[in-house]
Amino acid sequence: MTGEGVDIDVNGREAGLDIDDLAAEGAQAVTHASSTAALAQLETEYLGKHSALTRAHRALGGLDPEARKEAGRRLNEVRTRLEALVEERRLELAAAERGAALRADRLDLTEVIPDAVRSAPARGHLHLITQARAELEDVFVGMGFTVAEGPEAETDWYNFEALNIPPAHPARGMWDTMYLELGQPETVLLRTHTSPVQIHLMEQALRDGTLPIHAVIPGKCFRLDTPDARHLPVFNQIEGLVIDRGMTFGDLAGTIQVFTEAYFGPGMQSRLRPAYFPFTEPSAEFEITCTLCLGEGCRTCSHTGWIELGGCGMVDPAVFDAVGVDAAEWSGFAFGFGIDRLAQMRHAVPDMRSFLENDIRFLTQF
Ligand code: FA5
Repeated sequence: MTGEGVDIDVNGREAGLDIDDLAAEGAQAVTHASSTAALAQLETEYLGKHSALTRAHRALGGLDPEARKEAGRRLNEVRTRLEALVEERRLELAAAERGAALRADRLDLTEVIPDAVRSAPARGHLHLITQARAELEDVFVGMGFTVAEGPEAETDWYNFEALNIPPAHPARGMWDTMYLELGQPETVLLRTHTSPVQIHLMEQALRDGTLPIHAVIPGKCFRLDTPDARHLPVFNQIEGLVIDRGMTFGDLAGTIQVFTEAYFGPGMQSRLRPAYFPFTEPSAEFEITCTLCLGEGCRTCSHTGWIELGGCGMVDPAVFDAVGVDAAEWSGFAFGFGIDRLAQMRHAVPDMRSFLENDIRFLTQF
């Protein structure tokens, strides 16, 4: 090792190591270390057990006393200086690294919420019945139906007469409602079911030459029904109408079966029971096992174990005649399900009146 006249043979082989070069090189490397980890490596390299400096120290024993003293002093100077530089750089790097980490972890708690947002009411969600209506539409669209709508206020002709329910027919008693205008020129009433939209759709298809029809029609219905566990005076139905060639009751039953599995999932027990509707022949009632008591019998199903979800049947030729559809060419089926009833059974809600009570504890469950 040379430098200020000192020349040490480091471990007997590395003679000629320049202490000044070593000090300069070490100082340069340390002051430019880019991280505390890189600095720790440099510290080992320049000051550690296997560093040139340490090896030079060990080699001092081979010098005469005077030269040993001088070389020892120089080596200690270099070591002290490098150690100080390492310490200085370590503090710098540690501070920079801590700052970067703090910046990365920083949580901005100073967000300013505009007054308009702060005072806005909490956002709600769609009512269960609205959700059910949308889901039912999806199920039927998936089965190839289109979605149509019709007026909520109807004339007597659409709500009753065209559906084979002439004035004073006893079946009108099943569908008592609110009359908006009685008599001239036409009696107008709040529709009691969505079936009058069947007539509108057939008329339109005849006008536009667009038969066949495969449509569902959701919407509100109104009846003078006393509210109870299964009834509301304002409720929703989804009507189905298929007019095509060669339709049979098997097509109707199959459609209802596919619908039941799609809406309730597999395993729901359902049945069709003979019934009477003036506008379908034959007619049936579509029922499922009560989801509240699983068929045991309870207050909701009036202890029958079954819940009626809707009516259905093959379109009566009298309806085709009223509209002018050729019954020799076309046949069809129709159904009308209660949306509120479907949602009630799907979610096992004991009393349908809960849908209207506006109790947030009930509504937020869905
Ligand atoms: C009808 O309304 C017929 N238009 C159904 C139909 C359509 C038959 C097409 C044949 C062909 P009904 O009155 O049974 O039928 O009512 C059908 C369904 O509407 C009921 O099964 C029930 O799910 C629902 N519903 C009837 N009245 C109410 C009510 N007051 N509250 C809640 N849901 C009701």
